[in-house]
Amino acid sequence: MGAGREVSISLEGLSDKNLMQLKKLNVSIFPVRYNEKLYADALASGEFTKLAYYSDICVGAIACRLEKKEGGAVHAYIMTLGVLAPYRGLGIGTKLLNHVLDLCYKQSISEIYLHVQTNNEDAINFYKKFGFDITETIHNYYKRITPPDCHVLTKFITQP
Ligand SMILES: CC(C)(COP(=O)(O)OP(=O)(O)OC[C@H]1O[C@@H](n2cnc3c(N)ncnc32)[C@H](O)[C@@H]1OP(=O)(O)O)[C@@H](O)C(=O)NCCC(=O)NCCS
Repeated sequence: MGAGREVSISLEGLSDKNLMQLKKLNVSIFPVRYNEKLYADALASGEFTKLAYYSDICVGAIACRLEKKEGGAVHAYIMTLGVLAPYRGLGIGTKLLNHVLDLCYKQSISEIYLHVQTNNEDAINFYKKFGFDITETIHNYYKRITPPDCHVLTKFITQP
């Protein structure tokens, strides 16, 4: 986080108690409507899903799914990472993403990836700062938004 942007942000785990806050956040931030499966996966991901609080206000969240691959490796998939517009640029997105990247290091997860709409340059630049690269472009990935295309952004994590 840059100098002068130090704000007090706390991260809280997802539970049945605050699940509605994550749903409300996602409705406010994303043009896509997510189904119950996303929230079930988020609850099952444990520490890989966190809400960010600015004082008492829930202003952002990262929601991940852990995917077991053939051979036993586990990959992390970022289903949503969002911060309410008035609270952007304060380092909250960085804090949420670094939390999950730290968990990946600690749990020897070698790959973390996500889908992002091809016109979402802010998000693409944000993820590139953390070492994510575009590894694939999928046409007509989204059904109800334009453009319907997405990039897959992947970070390969080299264990020390
Ligand atoms: C992407 C997103 C989560 C970043 O959250 P944030 O809290 O604003 O990010 P940070 O304050 O930690 O910023 C990190 C860096 O990215 C840059 N950045 C973040 N958002 C930016 C924006 N909207 N425009 C330009 N740069 C941006 C910042 O300049 C910062 O760089 P710096 O540390 O060198 O100054 C937020 O913009 C967002 O919620 N976007 C809408 C939802 C979305 O598209 N999510 C991604 C797809 S899952």
